[in-house]
Amino acid sequence: MITFKFATATEIHFGTDTLQNVGALASRMGQRAAIILGRTGERAEPMYPLLDNAGVEQVTFNVDGEPTVNATESIIYSSRNESCDMVISMGGGSVIDTGKVVAGMLTNQGNLMDYLEVVGEGKELNKTAAPHIAIPTTAGTGSEVTRNAVLTVSDHRTKVSMRSIKLLPSLALLDPLLTLSLPPSITAYSGLDALAQLIEPYVSNQSNPLTDALAWDGIGRIRRSLRRAFHDGYDQEAREEMLLASLFGGIALANAKLGAVHGIAGPVGGMYGAPHGAVCGRLLPLVTDAVIQALTQRAPESEAVYKYTKLARYVTDDMGASAKDLVPWLEKLSEDLLVPDLTSHGLSKADIPSVVDKSLQSSSMKGSPIQLTSGELKSILQRAL
Ligand SMILES: [Fe+2]
Repeated sequence: MITFKFATATEIHFGTDTLQNVGALASRMGQRAAIILGRTGERAEPMYPLLDNAGVEQVTFNVDGEPTVNATESIIYSSRNESCDMVISMGGGSVIDTGKVVAGMLTNQGNLMDYLEVVGEGKELNKTAAPHIAIPTTAGTGSEVTRNAVLTVSDHRTKVSMRSIKLLPSLALLDPLLTLSLPPSITAYSGLDALAQLIEPYVSNQSNPLTDALAWDGIGRIRRSLRRAFHDGYDQEAREEMLLASLFGGIALANAKLGAVHGIAGPVGGMYGAPHGAVCGRLLPLVTDAVIQALTQRAPESEAVYKYTKLARYVTDDMGASAKDLVPWLEKLSEDLLVPDLTSHGLSKADIPSVVDKSLQSSSMKGSPIQLTSGELKSILQRAL
């Protein structure tokens, strides 16, 4: 029996030059936009005349690196004071996550801490977030269609989420031209994050036929295009495919959960400030190996084994391949894309027990098709050093 729920951004506009429509689209939603950008916000330059011509006023905020609770609180405070009635976020996942939180806090009263999990009170948002146009400039996080925002709590060396279906952006605007100039390392890391965000929901214990279809399609696009985009950043077709794959990964994870790659990547990112995609890229082959081994021993008849086998055959083009053949394919991909080991981010052997403890608590872990033991998690981390 099949039962599932599914939700995504209210509208998705995808296509080369779609950014040209931002003025007309924004003027439908509000009068004064809080514009959230990354450190330099260079890619946003063409957006300003488009908004001016459409009569949309702007107040710009920059997010430096991954957003902290304090920095986000100050953007919320200023955008409320400036009477912003909508948000436009343009950047990587961190920028769009900040946009979601600001949009949520423009319509809901109180402080950010009231709504945060773990470190705050975890209250539910009552009101729908303010209109929010999310414009990704990397192909990886799929944050434009997910319902949570990850913030760093500096004093706790940890990351927390604000989570609500009300945080889904009103419009995800995806223009592949914005990703053309990404450097190879960011292309690789964000692309491997996208791949993890497709494979984990595909084998997740909460997958459904709709997320399966999207995940399968997205994995095929990454297989065809990630190496191409890495070697030639101006390959427009490859960039288009990667942005689509990233979008599908975001939709899949928001509706079918993740797994142990993200369960471990969360704490590692929080503790060492390591780039999320690089960590996911390093963990993906190792976690896949451990999960397939655990399934083979403890649940050999499970649907996940069948799905891993199907996936292995698809990516290797070998109809006789078995589930475990997916592992060397993933290893080769992260090797070709020059993904560093976790030692390079500061992880040491002595820290492994604490990473394991935090990973076991993480909500992403709940999507794993089999519960990994702390011994299995420990051995994944030892191999990742
Ligand atoms: Fe991710």
